[in-house]
Amino acid sequence: MKKDLTTEQKVKLVMGADFWTNYDAEGALYRFVVSDGPVGLRQPRDRMTTEQTDCIRSVAYPSFQILSQTWDTSLAYEMGKSLGNDCIEQDVDILLGPGVNIKRLPTNGRNFEYLSEDPVVAGTFAREYIKGVQSMHVGTSLKHFCCNSSELSRKWLSMEVDERTLRELYLRPFEIACEAQPWTVMSSYNLVNGVRMSEHEKLYGVLRGEFGFDGMIMSDWEAVQDSEASLNAGCNWEMPYNERHQKEMLQKAEQLDRAKLDESAGRVAALAEKCAREKELRRMDMDLAARRATAQKIEEEGIVLLKNEGVLPLRKERVFVTGAPAFRYYFGGGSSNVYPEREFEPLADALGSEGAFAEFAESVWEVQGHQAILGNLKAAVVKAAESDVTVLCVGEPNSCEYEGADRQHIKLSKEEELAIHALADVSEKLVVVVYAGAAIDMTDWIGEADAVLWAGYGGEFVSRAVARVLTGKVNPSGKLTETFPLRLEDVPAENAYRDEAVMLYSEGLNVGYRYFDTFGVPVLFPFGFGLSYSEFVYRDLRVRKEGGCVKVTFTVENISDTDGKEAAQVYVREVTKEVYRPYKELKAFKKVFVKAHGSTEAELTLDERAFAYYSVAKDKWTVKPGVFEIMVGRNVEEIELRQKIRL
Ligand code: BGC
Repeated sequence: MKKDLTTEQKVKLVMGADFWTNYDAEGALYRFVVSDGPVGLRQPRDRMTTEQTDCIRSVAYPSFQILSQTWDTSLAYEMGKSLGNDCIEQDVDILLGPGVNIKRLPTNGRNFEYLSEDPVVAGTFAREYIKGVQSMHVGTSLKHFCCNSSELSRKWLSMEVDERTLRELYLRPFEIACEAQPWTVMSSYNLVNGVRMSEHEKLYGVLRGEFGFDGMIMSDWEAVQDSEASLNAGCNWEMPYNERHQKEMLQKAEQLDRAKLDESAGRVAALAEKCAREKELRRMDMDLAARRATAQKIEEEGIVLLKNEGVLPLRKERVFVTGAPAFRYYFGGGSSNVYPEREFEPLADALGSEGAFAEFAESVWEVQGHQAILGNLKAAVVKAAESDVTVLCVGEPNSCEYEGADRQHIKLSKEEELAIHALADVSEKLVVVVYAGAAIDMTDWIGEADAVLWAGYGGEFVSRAVARVLTGKVNPSGKLTETFPLRLEDVPAENAYRDEAVMLYSEGLNVGYRYFDTFGVPVLFPFGFGLSYSEFVYRDLRVRKEGGCVKVTFTVENISDTDGKEAAQVYVREVTKEVYRPYKELKAFKKVFVKAHGSTEAELTLDERAFAYYSVAKDKWTVKPGVFEIMVGRNVEEIELRQKIRL
């Protein structure tokens, strides 16, 4: 750090100068700019505010839910690289993302911003995304550290979680993502085991000492309640600027712990210097067309075909398109709310461009929160009766899924369900396309639909991608990265104790599929599920030890006439266990392309951690020598190959 900074300057350095930049010590330091993130740049035109609506326009990529549903981590790298280009174009130094919090509750209002209920999926996608952004000499902020798994009273609740669960589920994605050396980490609003995360010295110690994080820790926006306590714990940068907090800190400047102040001011100054250096190296290497292509590709690969009873792909039918997301852009709300640079393309137009005979009329006009306004549904019923296929678009816009509050339930609005029933009644074939960011309970209507497609929050190319999947130009290959329960009440975490002060993680490791799989509880769609227009068989599993690792090799054969991609999943089960373990856990995955009537061999490596659990008795990750079963499947329920190995 520059030696000549005064104490006053150091105190000013450990807090932002406004909403998005650092204090520059009267021009002595580079003034860097941070910006949301993470699925398109969200930047208020007036940088002195957190303004939610008057923002710059930028490429709107699909949500993180969609990204992980691609099961292709090279797309996370590509998305990061593309966003790195966006940042260079807009003069942004650090992108505020990725978010890797575990989807503990299907109702969490921010699930669409997160990657998975599984730590390996979340961590791996985040790591590759960070590498992509940072390859452009632009920084990232891995967030929200940690256990920010609910928006309920997010600044005040303590997440009460046992050490083993914390390590294996909630810290693990951060550990994996830190392998990419993010420039910064953002601590979360919530408390963990009674201590506010902006003051969590113990967990900052794990982050730095065990995960090797060597960058700057910033607070979430207005998360800091006590600036001195945060500084002492190792939170280096309080965001955003807070006049009262800074005044108090300046008043007691001489009494502040010198070493702590120097440490944090030094980290902010070092980051400013790093940004200045890296800025010199920045060169855009993707034009707008290339970035748009990335957004489209991720949506095409991340869409999940959930049900298909002989209706898709469409052939030469007369298609009737209806529903609000067919003509409105759907996305989640809050800091990641991107304003697309491209005008919304209605689904009927996109279908037309892909050669289909599509016509649009209104039915569900607008969804607001958990209610919808119906348009002329009677007229829509007539259109549906006269067409060969009805494509009904339903879902949850940003008035339903957003930052700051959790969802009340996971069903569609009553009005949308009514529209589904009415249209199902008269349609020759009904395809329901769902635009939402988190699991939906479809039990009341799924039996009436011939096909269901999960479009999610698909970014600015959502209609194009949906049209290409519906018409078979793209063979769907996305798979879910979170369980869709039959009913919300089936999810143990939703039933766990909570009050005005705490959320008790009493389900421990039994989050998502770890619960449903272990206890044999039926679900609507299991973790890892997704259909294709191709048909795959798995064969020839070989498992062998090599060095300290286990190599898993198998073949995926495509026995259909259609080229396709399959996301193969490798789960590990400990047969001779000494502590509780969920029945099996995902440890590796690979998406392979397989030509029609061809086959592809996949090889995956399982390192020691794939077999380990976190021992609270020994305070470390531990592998108990014994027998493990390697299971290769299409999803957590459909295991096709298995083999035991002694370690
Ligand atoms: C969110 C962060 C975001 C920050 C800045 C906070 O409310 O939790 O994810 O980066 O605001 O907009």
